[in-house]
Amino acid sequence: MNAIKKGEKLDFTIGDVNDAYEGPAGILWEMLMGEHIHVGGEAETDIMAQKAGMNSETRVLDICSALGGPARYLARNYGSYITGLDATQKMLDEATRRTRTEGLDHLVDYRLGNALDIPFRAGTFDVVLGQDAWCYITDKERLIEEAYRVLKPGGIIVFTDWTQIGNMTDDEWVCLNTFMVFPYMETLDGYETLLLDVGFNLIEKEDLSIDFARHCSIYQNKLRNELKDSIIRMYGEELFNEIDRGLDNWVNAAQKSKVGRGRIIGRKL
Ligand SMILES: C[S@@+](CC[C@H](N)C(=O)[O-])C[C@H]1O[C@@H](n2cnc3c(N)ncnc32)[C@H](O)[C@@H]1O
Repeated sequence: MNAIKKGEKLDFTIGDVNDAYEGPAGILWEMLMGEHIHVGGEAETDIMAQKAGMNSETRVLDICSALGGPARYLARNYGSYITGLDATQKMLDEATRRTRTEGLDHLVDYRLGNALDIPFRAGTFDVVLGQDAWCYITDKERLIEEAYRVLKPGGIIVFTDWTQIGNMTDDEWVCLNTFMVFPYMETLDGYETLLLDVGFNLIEKEDLSIDFARHCSIYQNKLRNELKDSIIRMYGEELFNEIDRGLDNWVNAAQKSKVGRGRIIGRKL
């Protein structure tokens, strides 16, 4: 496969991510996936919590916490103390509002910040969590270094992400990443190398790409059948058609095993 060479990335910045999530993206992704904006919903959050051994003693940092669906779920079901870190004010405000409404603010708080410069001291957290969001991060090496820094010794990193799994043309690569505002996607092996280089022990690495392709088709059906009219009413036909084309490219790429998704778990030595 065409390796992702260092420095070879699209020129997206955190400002582009903010613009996307301050605009329709946050709402549209929630319409498609629910307030857990990741593949697999609560069931996936459960798998990660159990694999990381979360309980009421666990202090968790959720990097790219978005609307806080997973944070509240973990607080409700595991009694863990969760801090959500996100760089987009609108997502943070909405997460805070929903958390207060549910009366979970004694267990869940949020901090505005960039994952590349995590605003917490070394050794603060037992678990660092990430769900289907680190594909937005412009420097995955720095991200993993930051995750390592803020974990206590013996702490767990557990995350899922959208990954590049097969060969694609340069045009496909640009088109898929541009639609999502991803600077680049990591491969599962690439993530493993980043973890090992920083000093994590790899506990588990699982390719979930078949399930990812299935979910992409589910989202496409939902977009075309359930959501089309309301999206056109809210944002107009042009944006609907753009989303439909973009998602169709992702469905095709997932079905042809060019893009996928994986889960990685590691322990800080
Ligand atoms: C797909 S959503 C995350 C979904 C969330 N993990 C969940 O499971 O519900 C992507 C989020 O990542 C945030 N984000 C992207 N890049 C970031 C960065 N460098 N630092 C902090 N947050 C970032 C965006 O603001 C957005 O809210």
